[in-house]
Amino acid sequence: MLNRAVVIGVGHYLPERVVPNSHFESFLDTSNEWIVSRSGIERRHFAAEGEMTSDLAANAARAALAHAGLEANDIDAIVLATSTADLTFPSAATMVQAKLGMERGFAFDIQAVCAGFVYALGTANALIVAGQARRVLVIGAETFSRLMDWTDRGTCVLFGDGAGAVVLEARPGTDSPSDRGILAVDLNSDGRHRDLLYVDGGMTTGATGHLRMEGKEVFRHAVEKLAQTAETALERAGLSAADVDWIVPHQANLRIIKATAQKFGFGLDKVVLTVQDHGNTSAASIPLALSVGVERGQIKPGDLVVTEAIGGGLAWGAVVLRW
Ligand code: UT7
Repeated sequence: MLNRAVVIGVGHYLPERVVPNSHFESFLDTSNEWIVSRSGIERRHFAAEGEMTSDLAANAARAALAHAGLEANDIDAIVLATSTADLTFPSAATMVQAKLGMERGFAFDIQAVCAGFVYALGTANALIVAGQARRVLVIGAETFSRLMDWTDRGTCVLFGDGAGAVVLEARPGTDSPSDRGILAVDLNSDGRHRDLLYVDGGMTTGATGHLRMEGKEVFRHAVEKLAQTAETALERAGLSAADVDWIVPHQANLRIIKATAQKFGFGLDKVVLTVQDHGNTSAASIPLALSVGVERGQIKPGDLVVTEAIGGGLAWGAVVLRW
């Protein structure tokens, strides 16, 4: 019988410090009006000094485990999407494993930048469908505030820190689109566009570096590729836009989110929106939005959810799942 990877718990964590747009007006030639009208962002959270990605991830994981009614040792694997791991190695996932007191199973990171959570869901789904793991904790966690060039007004006003997590469990499916769980995955990348969004540091320079982005170009690719990947995933699941209850997009820019929803003939009433409160949290934005969407009473059991994301690489993709 076919195994489906079903979400049985979800949770999130946001650092305590909330930074409103007005914060940037004191040291940059920018305004709350510009940031809100160009991106939809009103505020974001920044991690405290010494509060690392694995700390955010572990807190989100604890919330998801509690929601699922499980202990850390009930989990077979941790898949953590991040581009801001605490150290070059070991993986932030193994740090989370230790922080949770998990003494079994395996843990690893996935690095696909803003598309990381979609890649992580796809990977966890493959582990479950192949029978290699029965319960997988899938986390997206980032501290992008540590990658900002605070003199670059085109990027530093856009990003924030946070973490979200889901617990996936293998449940028997019937190979029908009415099954609960992950129904289809579509993953893509095109390394020819690597210069549109990258961090100018790492092994090459010996320093962490700062995020660099050709915003307008990334915007153009996003509007085209997000609708495409979501459509491909829906088709693969044997479903269409009419079946969708919620789009849970990567939260980078309200204008991109609106344009993508429009391509499906939807308004924002079918979109879980958190960009105004979180900014762009890269791989954390989708699990944060899933968790907030459940907390708000938007996403309910049986709902058809489409997640889609694009980021550095370029890497992009979509996952269709029934909650
Ligand atoms: O998560 C990974 C994927 N990332 C994304 O999806 C981001 C995609 N890109 C975007 O969201 C948008 O391109 C931005 C929000 C980054 C920028 O919006 P835009 O409408 O593309 O603006 P722009 O970059 O074309 O800039 C327009 C103007 C420029 O001035 P000039 O050249 O027209 O005089 C910029 O210098 O706005 C200026 N500008 C700002 N002004 C005030 C850029 N940043 C700021 C700022 N405050 N913070």
